[in-house]
Amino acid sequence: MKKAQAIYQNGSHRWVAIVRDPDKPSYLIDTNEYVVTSGAESLLADPGGMEIFPAVFSAVSRELDPRSIRYIFASHQDPDIISSLALWLEFNPQLRCYLSWLWASFIPHFGGNDQTFVAIPDEGMKIPLGAIELVAVPAHYLHSSGNFHIYDPHARVYFSDDVGAALLPPEDDMLFVNDFDRHIRFMEGFHRRWMGSNEAKNNWCERVSRLKIDMLCPQHGAIFRGADVGRFIDWFAGLKVGLDGNAAVGKRG
Ligand SMILES: [Fe+2]
Ligand SMILES: [Fe+2]
Repeated sequence: MKKAQAIYQNGSHRWVAIVRDPDKPSYLIDTNEYVVTSGAESLLADPGGMEIFPAVFSAVSRELDPRSIRYIFASHQDPDIISSLALWLEFNPQLRCYLSWLWASFIPHFGGNDQTFVAIPDEGMKIPLGAIELVAVPAHYLHSSGNFHIYDPHARVYFSDDVGAALLPPEDDMLFVNDFDRHIRFMEGFHRRWMGSNEAKNNWCERVSRLKIDMLCPQHGAIFRGADVGRFIDWFAGLKVGLDGNAAVGKRG
């Protein structure tokens, strides 16, 4: 069963992380889902794969009324991000799904119709939610060619999707990073291989280092908070990714 845990609360403004499912089959990658609420409205960021829909739905329902979820946000097109879309739409056909314009004719293969999708332009956009406004921050080529993160300037929470992801062994299965240096071993290979462009990475690090962020929340692994947010951005800025970071892959075929 997945755990739902509030990571930020100020009145009706809340972030809930849906994390870790020890009952999940080991052939599926473990994912984190996040729900942001303001007043009567909630947005579900990266709802996850269709296989884990029942676990996510019941974890969400323990923390909030799932009927408050008006919006889904898909950071990119991967199956572990958004293949549960049709099941969420079955629960509420009125849901709107924010996604990159680039994927607006691809993700409907998972479900939805011409009323479902809100296409985000490359430069990003504001996403109104209850009394607050979230920001869709461009993260193209990190790793998808049309990729967005969410910044909540009120809560100072940044949802970073696959950036900051770590593949944690069961014995290191914590909610928050507690030893940054040790954590590197769980994220280095993932970032080298999945992140496609050093130029995109450096541009992202430069932009995001200027934001005020208390928590950086990835879609896999543990959440960075406090000084570890800056530590992660500095570490990522210095990492070689894509073909530069994977000589063996570059030489093949
Ligand atoms: Fe991905
Ligand atoms: Fe992912």
